[in-house]
Amino acid sequence: MTTLKVELGERSYPIFIQAHLLKQADILAPYLKTKTVVVVTNNVVEPLYFPLLEQALKGCDISKIVIPDGEEYKNLQTFELVISQLLAMSAARDTTLIALGGGVVGDLTGFVAASFQRGMPFIQIPTTLLSQVDSSVGGKTAVNHPLGKNMIGAFYQPKVVLIDTTSLATLPEREFAAGMAEVIKYGVIYDAAFFNWLETNQAAIKAKDTDTLQYMIARCCEIKAEIVAIDERESGLRALLNLGHTFGHAIEAEQGYGNWLHGEAVATGIVLASSVATKMNWLQAPEFRRIVELIENFNLPTSAPVEMDYDCFMRHMRHDKKVQAGKLNFVIPNQIGAATVTNQIPEEVLRTVLS
Ligand code: NAD
Ligand code: GLY
Repeated sequence: MTTLKVELGERSYPIFIQAHLLKQADILAPYLKTKTVVVVTNNVVEPLYFPLLEQALKGCDISKIVIPDGEEYKNLQTFELVISQLLAMSAARDTTLIALGGGVVGDLTGFVAASFQRGMPFIQIPTTLLSQVDSSVGGKTAVNHPLGKNMIGAFYQPKVVLIDTTSLATLPEREFAAGMAEVIKYGVIYDAAFFNWLETNQAAIKAKDTDTLQYMIARCCEIKAEIVAIDERESGLRALLNLGHTFGHAIEAEQGYGNWLHGEAVATGIVLASSVATKMNWLQAPEFRRIVELIENFNLPTSAPVEMDYDCFMRHMRHDKKVQAGKLNFVIPNQIGAATVTNQIPEEVLRTVLS
């Protein structure tokens, strides 16, 4: 088993990564405040993995709340529904909430945990590649607003993250590919050697070789843990994790949440940010081509919907959380393995890239 730690003083927590780990979910016992546990999951994940978790935690008083599947349910209505069910089952401040599912379940459950009676303990059990490499670690929790993604939320760290890589066996290929966008992101912004490793190990990743997946997921969590330990609340370094997200969120909002997967929008966003970097002579053309090629090789989209022009992107990006003093911040790669946050992108460069 790989064990990592997110170092945040008294809020530090471990990340456990291994195949078949759900069968050993009793390793969570030391992290439960009481034996009362409520699992939040959705109607797709519940039949697949709730029975395993229930069995492993059989000494606990365990209930479940099942929400509908889909990004379009990551909203205030579902938030209220979960809170109402917690109240109906007399959940208390020391009840532990467990998020069992992908990033939608994890983000929403984390926000409920941050808010219910001003905060209750929660645990992340991510079951998609995207949530295993990114959203379950670092404590960003949120729901969407019709005018913008993740507009209502809180920084709230879990007590522990349990990653069972076997759960990826049931994940649809399109969802697996979407997770690869966030994996590639780490290589582009932070770790050139990891980017090379991804290029070399594409076949083993696609074949879902157990050891390859364990290494890949662990390296992503390690990078994220390192960044979050330095900059938990995104006042600097953590912003690099948003590579491709400013453009990506605009695509998601314009297309309607759930039509483009988050990872697909991020993949296109990474290409657009890299294209901006190339136009500004920050990124060499051969490195740009390697980024595009790796993204394409995982069957991810590399161009925005044709009907989205500069004005359309700008309309959405105005609401972005990265707007500061009226200026949009972009994460732009300088080379494979390093990136910079800047608000100095000339309008004509953006117009060229987004037209
Ligand atoms: P998701 O949660 O919608 O899951 C994708 C699909 O896979 C869903 O249909 C889900 O029911 C299904 N599923 C989940 N696990 C499965 C399994 N093991 N087998 C079969 N099907 C399974 O999407 P996602 O890509 O996991 O997460 C996307 C969300 O994460 C977005 O809302 C995004 O904003 C958020 N996010 C948050 C952070 C963060 O730091 N908090 C980071 C990145 C993304
Ligand atoms: N996924 C971006 C972050 O956690 O900061």
